[in-house]
Parts: sequence; structure tokens; C-alpha cells
Amino acid sequence: MISSGRETKKKPIRVLSGIQPSGQLHLGNYFGMMSRMIHYQRENDLFCFIVNYHALTTIQEKDRLKRNTFNAAVDFLALGMDPDKSTFWVQGDVPQVAELTWLLSNITSLGLMDRSTSYKDKVAKGITPNMGLYSYPLLMAADILLFGTDIVPVGKDQKQHLEMTRDIALRFNHTYGNVFVIPEPDIEEETMLVPGVDGQKMSKSYGNTIPIFIDEHELEKNIMSIVTDSTSVNEPKDKDTQLFIIYSLFLDEKERLELADRYDSLGLRYGDVKRELIERIKSHFSPYREKRNYLLSHPDDIHQILEMGAKKAAGVADQYLHQAREAMGLNYGNV
Ligand code: ADP
Ligand code: TRP
Repeated sequence: MISSGRETKKKPIRVLSGIQPSGQLHLGNYFGMMSRMIHYQRENDLFCFIVNYHALTTIQEKDRLKRNTFNAAVDFLALGMDPDKSTFWVQGDVPQVAELTWLLSNITSLGLMDRSTSYKDKVAKGITPNMGLYSYPLLMAADILLFGTDIVPVGKDQKQHLEMTRDIALRFNHTYGNVFVIPEPDIEEETMLVPGVDGQKMSKSYGNTIPIFIDEHELEKNIMSIVTDSTSVNEPKDKDTQLFIIYSLFLDEKERLELADRYDSLGLRYGDVKRELIERIKSHFSPYREKRNYLLSHPDDIHQILEMGAKKAAGVADQYLHQAREAMGLNYGNV
């Protein structure tokens, strides 16, 4: 079990994270968040959801959003998310989070929101900002606080959003009394920033991803397109590069040392390493591929799983929302 530093508590640790259905899920999502969440479900009280309200900030085509949401749920389930061991749902099916976002917006300063680097990055990348994009960190804070979350496993890009969430929760508790649990981020050094084929952070919005369930022919093209330097065969190679880093994610300690040795010695060809990586990726995901094909042909099962998850999530959300409304003076019946 992961540690929140509060081991004396009897309650299991609540672990929560979400993923945007904004495109095909990729190796950065898988190592940075998904595989860790799937692992944590064994011993923790795991809450996991597809954040379609967040995706609205950048997707306006309804069919694309619907398809991406369904596919993201299928991918997660195929990779091992177990709806009997976790609470797994789609964000928009528990709309209480939108109400909490409004409540939190009244105790959040513009100064805090203006510091959001992810907002600035997205605007710098050419996204025309709307209010949803600006309020994105508030909605994420509501996501986390609405479920009494202890731990939030994420990649490094989400660190600031977690800091903002903590600030907002502390401000709320200070103003209105202790309602919210103060969450801790869980960011893993080795997987916190998986590079894309071009060496920048792998991201759906940068077009540099290696999708988890890409078809096999496309996978070959994709891996062959990983940018390498022009070092000759008879020189040692730089290990601080995307091909080495991505391949290492699939290797155990011993295999990683062997690969490092080959990089340090003469005679290594990047083409050979790329071909080995293709085989690794194929064999790593092939059992999940079969499960995914099965799930794709049983859409009713998926809808049922998500409906059950939303019901479980709503039960917890209602409790926290009630407490927040009570604390703020919205429940005026008992005046
Ligand atoms: P994207 O940037 O591709 O749109 P999301 O914002 O939906 O991905 O991220 C979902 C989760 O995956 C988050 O926890 C995020 O930190 C993690 N993640 C995304 N890209 C990477 C990456 N390249 N390396 C590590 N973690 C990542
Ligand atoms: N902002 C996160 C991302 O882009 C997704 C997200 C939304 C999230 N709500 C969350 C992550 C709550 C953790 C907890 O990756």
C-alpha cells in the first residue's frame, strides 16, 4: 500500500486520478498514470475517471468527444482497471463536481489562477482560451476534493494543479471549517515525464505520441520515426535520449544495465534498438489487445460498468457536497 504519512488511520487510503478523453491514450499516459493506478487498485480505495468536462475545454465536436470518452474507458478496462476493485466512471455522469467548482471559485483568488502554467502553455500553443480553459484547475480541484482524496498519482505536468488544489482546500477549511481532505501528489521520478518521438514531453496535443493500442503496422512506422542523433556506429551513444528512455520503461533493472552497456560500447545501431523496442511493445500489450477487442464488441457491458461506477462515485460526492453547502450557508432550512 502507498503511504500518505497517516498510517495510524484505519480507513484505506483513497487514491484518485483522471484522464482526459482528448485523443488516443499513449505511453506517457500509461507509464505516468494508468499502469500505476491499475497497480494501486489492489490495496487502496481507488477512484478513477475519464474527465470529459475537462476535455470540453479543447474539443467542440460532439461525436469526437463521445467516441474518445468511450474508447478511453475501454482502454483503461482492457489494461486491467477492475470495476469490482475500484470506482470507475465518467466525470460528466456525476455533475455534482460542477456545483463544487462554483463553490470553490468564490474562495479562489484571481492571483492563484493567473499563475497556472498549463493555461499559459496552452495559450502559447495557439489554443484560443475560453473561460473553461481558464477555470480548468478549479474543476480539477473540485474533482479531487469532492471525493475526500488522500493521494493523486499523476505525471509531472500536473504538479502545479495539485499545489493549487491544496491551496484552495486549505483556504476553504480555514474560512469555513474542516471539510476537505488535503491531498498529496504521487509523482514517480522514473515515469514522470515520458518523452515523445521528438524528445519533447509525449502529449496528445503535441502530435508526438506512441499510442498504446496503435495498429501494428503503424507502430513500426511510429517507432522508426523516433528522432536519433547522427553519432556513427563506432562511437558510444548518448543515453539521455528518447529512444533509450522509452525502451528502458519496458526493461527490468538488469536489462536496463545491459542496454546502457550497449550504448556505452561501439557497434550499436539505432535501427536494431528500434526493432527490439517494436517487439517489446507488441508483446507487452498483446494480452491487453485481445481483452480490448472483446470489450469493443460488448459496448453494453461498458455502459453498465460506467453507470455502476457513477452511482458509487455520486454516493461519496453527495456527502462532501452536502458538507460544503452546509459550511457555506447554502442549506438555509435550519436557520
Ligand atoms: P496529454 O498531455 O497527452 O493530454 P493528459 O493531460 O490527459 O495527457 O494526462 C493524463 C495523465 O497522464 C496525467 O496524470 C499526466 O500527468 C500523465 N501524462 C501525460 N503525458 C505524460 C508524459 N509524457 N509523461 C508522464 N506522464 C504523462
Ligand atoms: N488535468 C489532468 C490532466 O490533464 C486530468 C485530471 C482532471 C485529473 N481531474 C483530475 C488528474 C483529478 C488527477 C485528479 O492530466
